[in-house]
Amino acid sequence: MAPRKIIIDTDPGQDDAVAILLALASPEDLDVLGITAVAGNVPLPLTQKNACIVCELAGKPETKVFSGCDAPIARKLVTAEHVHGKTGLDGPSLPDPTMTLQDKHAVDFMIETLRSEPEGSVTLCPLGPLTNVATALQRAPDIAGRIQEIVLMGGAYFEVGNITPAAEFNIYVDPEAAKIVFGCGAPITVMPLDVTHKALVTAERNNAFRALGTPVGVAVAEMTDFFERFDKEKYGSAGAPLHDPCVTAYLIQPELFTGRHINVEIETGSDLTLGMTVADWWGVTDRAPNATFMGDIDADGFFALLTERLARL
Ligand code: BDR
Ligand code: CA
Repeated sequence: MAPRKIIIDTDPGQDDAVAILLALASPEDLDVLGITAVAGNVPLPLTQKNACIVCELAGKPETKVFSGCDAPIARKLVTAEHVHGKTGLDGPSLPDPTMTLQDKHAVDFMIETLRSEPEGSVTLCPLGPLTNVATALQRAPDIAGRIQEIVLMGGAYFEVGNITPAAEFNIYVDPEAAKIVFGCGAPITVMPLDVTHKALVTAERNNAFRALGTPVGVAVAEMTDFFERFDKEKYGSAGAPLHDPCVTAYLIQPELFTGRHINVEIETGSDLTLGMTVADWWGVTDRAPNATFMGDIDADGFFALLTERLARL
């Protein structure tokens, strides 16, 4: 089967970086048409730079990286340096990139690609706030019907929130954008905190990355060394959750994940629960299902895949 065409929309972020590395290491499964940067974990100048750093770390400087939206649709940007560090990619010491950004806005790239590729052949992989994707849908509503699938990291049901008691970071930062995306009618698969908090880099798993002995293996181990302190302190968990790689792993090995096709609505009106993903997991409403909301992961299988693929870079 031909590799699946994807656009990775991202705000790197250590876990975004691992998601990108996994995709770039898997050309037989995934054809990365482009990487679109968005403001999120850190401001846009850093997320776009980090995307380039990661492509060069992977040895793929020919990857197309586009700069996108620098602020949410209707709100001030909220960032997460408290999790990811000042650069967004704190941990390893990686050289500044030499590759240059594409001379086109990320939103234009998304629209043009979805219009020019055969209908239903391009999957969007949002790993950050949904600003770029929602802006594309607002500007070009015709693209909604051309998207093969949107597989995104965001939201939570059982785990509720990480940036507020009720909301997960990616959805909270731009809830208006999330509302547009969840209402667009394209097939959506969601990797919420309920799943990603089970994808934990234990000491043993991180040693396996380090033991690869390659620049990529060592950098990933150093990223999680840095990134894990936040979740260990907050949740008492065994290590860093690899949120965003769940998206690219799903595209390679969907059987690692299980979930339910349900209705998911985004709260945009309440200050208290802003950005909450109101997921009808128990089917207590008659609202139409609009997303496959994952609930579980085969974590050992996920880390086996990740380690095997990262070893190739
Ligand atoms: C999400 O927010 C970011 O901090 C991570 O990169 C991930 O995409 C987890 O809530
Ligand atoms: Ca992210």
